[in-house]
Amino acid sequence: MEIRIEPLQECYLDQVCALEEEVFSMPWHRESFQEMIEDKNACYLVALHQEEVVGACGLRNIVGDGEVTNVVTKKAYQNRGIGATLLNQLFSIGRTMGVEAYTLEVRVSNRPAIHLYQKLGFKEEGIRKNFYEKPREDALIMWKR
Ligand SMILES: CC(C)(COP(=O)(O)OP(=O)(O)OC[C@H]1O[C@@H](n2cnc3c(N)ncnc32)[C@H](O)[C@@H]1OP(=O)(O)O)[C@@H](O)C(=O)NCCC(=O)NCCS
Repeated sequence: MEIRIEPLQECYLDQVCALEEEVFSMPWHRESFQEMIEDKNACYLVALHQEEVVGACGLRNIVGDGEVTNVVTKKAYQNRGIGATLLNQLFSIGRTMGVEAYTLEVRVSNRPAIHLYQKLGFKEEGIRKNFYEKPREDALIMWKR
């Protein structure tokens, strides 16, 4: 299966929004993705199988700290290395943007995601109480330095 990683473009916005809605209880709005396309200090990547968006992830550079946003792989495509490929590509781009360390939040119960982040060098550094809603849950704060 051939997967291409590309920067998000307008033509993929509908699919990215649909993917978020499929997977997250609090999906981002279309405008947030639009802003990621336009923001020079941000980068949003999609994983494509032919012209189908099967994964996505984003990065915001906040003066050298890279905030990793909504990492997602379409259910039918999970566990095939797409999440890791997306994040590794994001780190390469982050280097060119001057990102020195990466941080993210993840639900404390989200074992697959935490496992993936640990595999890529993220360490648990704190808990943000009741960070999430639907359902209410603590966030684990992870950093890759
Ligand atoms: C987290 C997520 C993005 C991972 O994407 P993916 O494309 O499946 O990731 P990869 O295939 O690159 O790697 C997944 C790793 O997690 C592990 N994993 C996958 N599913 C798992 C599960 N149900 N339980 C435990 N580990 C799991 C895999 O074993 C793999 O590690 P390994 O190589 O050591 O075996 C995907 O599960 C997802 O979209 N989840 C829903 C959205 C989400 O929770 N995003 C994170 C928000 S912070």
